[in-house]
Amino acid sequence: MKAGDAKRFCRTVTEGGKTWNTDACTGRLAARVRREIDILKITAIRETLSKLYASCPLEDKLLLDCYTRVTDLLDTEHCTAEVIDDMYAVYAVVKMLQTRFPTMLPHVHRVSAVCMDLGKTMGFVPRDVSVIGALGVLHDAGKLGISDAVLFKQGPLTALEWEDIRRHSAIGYELIRPIGGISELADLILAHHERWDGHGYPRGLKKEEIPLFSRILTLADSIDAMISDRFYRKALSPPQIVAEIECCSGNQFDPTVVEAFFDMIRENRHTLSFLSPLHDAVMK
Ligand SMILES: [Fe+2]
Repeated sequence: MKAGDAKRFCRTVTEGGKTWNTDACTGRLAARVRREIDILKITAIRETLSKLYASCPLEDKLLLDCYTRVTDLLDTEHCTAEVIDDMYAVYAVVKMLQTRFPTMLPHVHRVSAVCMDLGKTMGFVPRDVSVIGALGVLHDAGKLGISDAVLFKQGPLTALEWEDIRRHSAIGYELIRPIGGISELADLILAHHERWDGHGYPRGLKKEEIPLFSRILTLADSIDAMISDRFYRKALSPPQIVAEIECCSGNQFDPTVVEAFFDMIRENRHTLSFLSPLHDAVMK
């Protein structure tokens, strides 16, 4: 036996005239076992979620809806350990949002729904509808990095405090970018306070420099703010909302997105009861 034969003997097997590399076989087997375990984990997560959903209170249904809208982006058909890590990371972010900002999930859930309906109206493919739905859920995730003292301050903010709040777009970018399966949302989150006229933040992008999905999000986010009561004002009436959107078209909002939104309302091509009161105001 020559030097090195023993080593070769350990790593190859000859059978039926073919020589197999046992290292490669072992590697394939290990990969297959890992994949089977991953499938079991994903199945267990899905089963746990559906049981939770059936029995949980409303706020947790909202949590699971938001979670599902984001994890729809993950490739769970080809599940890997990375996908499972992403699922846990998304759950952690959504749960943190719910815990720290109890009123945020109802808001982002509505924003996400408006984004998805608008995306469908504009002819998006299903994958893009999922992307914009997930963006709706996570667009303000960066607020996790801003202090309560600034976020919930009663009364006018100083220039420094405004600057602090404006950091939430970049913080959201940094938070979401490392989550591999949804990292495409990071740039969209970064741009969600840009304005059509270039006077937004953080980069002062204008018109088509701003990603389309972020332009849609900006409109959906503002509409939800208008239909909601604030501690300093009541919700706007439908005519006030339509007038405000028209007024901001071409400066804050992309006029094409505004037109698509009005078409959607005019033609009742949405699924959201809270948008129905706008119909008569848009028809006038
Ligand atoms: Fe924001």
